[in-house]
Amino acid sequence: MMNTCRLLIHPINNDTPEFRCSDGSETMRKELHNYGNVALSLENLQGTLDFSQVFGRCAPVHIEVGSGKGAFLVTEAQARPETDFLGIEWASKYYRYVVDRIGRRGLTNVRMLRADAPAFLRDHVAPGSVDCFHVYFPDPWPKKRHHKRRFLQAANLEILIDRLKPEGQIRIATDHEDYFQQIEDVTNACLDRLEPIEFARPAGALDGELTGTNYERKYIKESRSIHTAAFRKRSVAVARETR
Ligand SMILES: C[S@@+](CC[C@H](N)C(=O)[O-])C[C@H]1O[C@@H](n2cnc3c(N)ncnc32)[C@H](O)[C@@H]1O
Repeated sequence: MMNTCRLLIHPINNDTPEFRCSDGSETMRKELHNYGNVALSLENLQGTLDFSQVFGRCAPVHIEVGSGKGAFLVTEAQARPETDFLGIEWASKYYRYVVDRIGRRGLTNVRMLRADAPAFLRDHVAPGSVDCFHVYFPDPWPKKRHHKRRFLQAANLEILIDRLKPEGQIRIATDHEDYFQQIEDVTNACLDRLEPIEFARPAGALDGELTGTNYERKYIKESRSIHTAAFRKRSVAVARETR
């Protein structure tokens, strides 16, 4: 049976003519069909996503941008069954890997989407609809001429703030000094709408870890410093002069 959600949820059977992998690969179709309730497709989606339709309930919604191998998403979704999670991942191999991890665990409160996060958030996430964004170790694009590709830049931060509910949060981690400086610069410019708060370690963070993601574990082994930041969206914007 097809789910009638505007965002297509792949049905769990072998007859999936609606299924289209973005890279057109047959392999992906075979790998995903058993976990069709996990993988989302933007096919047929017009306008914004209705999270209550996607998850079949009204619950807090957390979105992770750039899930990688999904260590955060899977562990946090298991630890917080009262919350719904959406992971957005561009790389097909990671996307498939995470769908498989979620599917094998039978988690019902987490979905994976293969998409370009800025475009998806801009076009398909409604203002005031998200409780928390997690952005852990976003690609740093170290060359100066590539900085415009960084996810945490002013235009995308405006989208995140707009899509958050009042009191919603943004949680960020990076190992990259220069990127962290940019993050501080762009978030400092929004302190009329964002209140800095303490970074909350997720359930999967072990002793000595801040996020417990695969990249953090790799960077800890390389003795790199990890930077975190977290913000709460103010219910009412404060005048910049009074800060
Ligand atoms: C450095 S990895 C970090 C992965 C994971 N968060 C971790 O900490 O282990 C960055 C991830 O973001 C994904 N990514 C990069 N640009 C993206 C985009 N525009 N939309 C969605 N995902 C993206 C990459 O494919 C990659 O998996």
